[in-house]
Amino acid sequence: MSELTTRPADAQETETWRELWMDRLTGYAARTRRPVRTEQAAKRREKADEAVLLRLLDGETPVGYLSLIRFTEDGGQVVILEDLQIEEPYRRRGHGRAALGIAREWARGRSPRVSLGADPTDPAQQALFRDVPLGSQNMHKDLGDRPSLPAGVTVRRMSADEFGPWWTEQLAGYAESFVLNGLLTEEQARERAERQSGELLPSGLDTPGHDIYTVVAEDKPVASIWVCHEVEPDTSFVFDVVVEDGHRGKGYGRAAMLAAEQSALDAGSHVLGLNVFGHNEVALRLYTSLGYRPTSQMRTMTV
Ligand SMILES: CC(C)(COP(=O)(O)OP(=O)(O)OC[C@H]1O[C@@H](n2cnc3c(N)ncnc32)[C@H](O)[C@@H]1OP(=O)(O)O)[C@@H](O)C(=O)NCCC(=O)NCCS
Repeated sequence: MSELTTRPADAQETETWRELWMDRLTGYAARTRRPVRTEQAAKRREKADEAVLLRLLDGETPVGYLSLIRFTEDGGQVVILEDLQIEEPYRRRGHGRAALGIAREWARGRSPRVSLGADPTDPAQQALFRDVPLGSQNMHKDLGDRPSLPAGVTVRRMSADEFGPWWTEQLAGYAESFVLNGLLTEEQARERAERQSGELLPSGLDTPGHDIYTVVAEDKPVASIWVCHEVEPDTSFVFDVVVEDGHRGKGYGRAAMLAAEQSALDAGSHVLGLNVFGHNEVALRLYTSLGYRPTSQMRTMTV
């Protein structure tokens, strides 16, 4: 079993690590065809309350780097395992797993959990992080021809009367997801949902770049779907899809997602993205069967 020790990385090592890290972020963006987020990553580190870069040592031999940051969010302490790399010649000797244990130790007393971003296209990361529960996952689909809706299903813009109750339900559902995932307390989750959703949709139904639809079947509203077109070039996002209780299991979730594809294509996007919480297995299955592929994962372990 690997037994690693650590010391703070020196200035030269920090420079080397930063270059390796930025190269990896760029490579990941190219592989998943997502925008490069090197600047955001560097800024997050600068803004952290605490940031450490540890040199991982096997005896006297340096074998890798572990970068950890802590910051305050929604009144709670968050620890992020920002980067872990084991140098090529020293891989597959259990050092990655040992470094996860070191991250956990470091977080103890600082935060109840450690979160990390994982690349779903990298077999090494998927093996190393397989026991770290999935908090949420981004998924993307390359759109083809404009799909048609199933017979008997139509879609129209959500009415002003429908918006109020939908918004209340949307906020409650979003907040509940954070709680179900063990990420936030109820109060923190409610605050986060109100802040984030309020920022996204400041003018309600009239917010530019957003389309909110009601899906209708048998003359009744059966589902709703919220699509945003202005986050990334050529990409629209599904921010929320809900099938009414009593109408689930009848294919209306799939129909709503096809309506979102129509909306994205009409807005000039060729990719549709979404974020799904890890506990939501039904939704995960639906997106997978519709051809969405995971592009990034947020995983969280308790310490
Ligand atoms: C991911 C990484 C840190 C793993 O380090 P490592 O020291 O090789 O990992 P370990 O030896 O501890 O292996 C952990 C598990 O992953 C498996 N694994 C490691 N590399 C693998 C690969 N390329 N393919 C499949 N499984 C792999 C091991 O077999 C082991 O499984 P086990 O627990 O069932 O025995 C290393 O590959 C790396 O530095 N990659 C580049 C940087 C990176 O992607 N970092 C993660 C982002 S923070």
